[in-house]
Amino acid sequence: MAINREHVERVYTTYSAVYDKVWGRVFRESRDAVVRNLNLNPGERVLEVGVGTGLCLPLYPRSCEITGIDVSEGMLEKAHIRVKEQGLTNVTLLNMDAGDMSFPDSSFDVVIAAYVVTAVPDYRKLMSEMVRVSRPGGRLILLNHFTQNSRIIAAVEKAISPICARIGFRTDLSVDQVINGWPLVKERDQRVKPLGWWHVVECINAKEMVSGAPGHA
Ligand SMILES: C[S@@+](CC[C@H](N)C(=O)[O-])C[C@H]1O[C@@H](n2cnc3c(N)ncnc32)[C@H](O)[C@@H]1O
Repeated sequence: MAINREHVERVYTTYSAVYDKVWGRVFRESRDAVVRNLNLNPGERVLEVGVGTGLCLPLYPRSCEITGIDVSEGMLEKAHIRVKEQGLTNVTLLNMDAGDMSFPDSSFDVVIAAYVVTAVPDYRKLMSEMVRVSRPGGRLILLNHFTQNSRIIAAVEKAISPICARIGFRTDLSVDQVINGWPLVKERDQRVKPLGWWHVVECINAKEMVSGAPGHA
């Protein structure tokens, strides 16, 4: 089943009422471990794509400028409430498609996608835009489930992917499939403890200063 933007909006807006209770818990430790260890410098401009209900937002240093985008109005409403309740004056939230962003090239020092690569309709558009809007030498961070090396598990993940797509994510993408072909230098690919089911992939943007978005090989 193909995921399109309307499907994503509908699914995640439906989820928004229960998302923090269900997925907030499942993802909490990995989200905490990754965001708290980004070692952000004061003043760095961070873009979080697919910000959802904003569970990561309180974890960023207040000295950084955070922009969060999402296509689901329901998820964004929850994020707005969190920002207000926690007085996160360093955060800006926008309804924007991560596959077609309106930011100028090289606007951010760090671009992070937490559990989003497998939830978007087209991961290539997402990657193209993440590369475009992050500055040369900037960091791209992907926190996600990716397929395993084991052939049997990978076959199961491929088989269940169309079913999972109906409920908002796919399970058949590998790290290489997502990052190869872009001007990215992979700095780390680590499984996040305790479950080890999620990977944190950190890349440096090695695009030419003068060129725009690269083509995907
Ligand atoms: C699994 S949730 C992750 C939310 C959040 N990052 C977290 O850590 O809880 C995936 C999010 O990606 C958003 N999303 C999916 N496709 C998108 C797109 N093309 N542009 C922006 N957001 C998108 C969904 O609306 C949803 O909020």
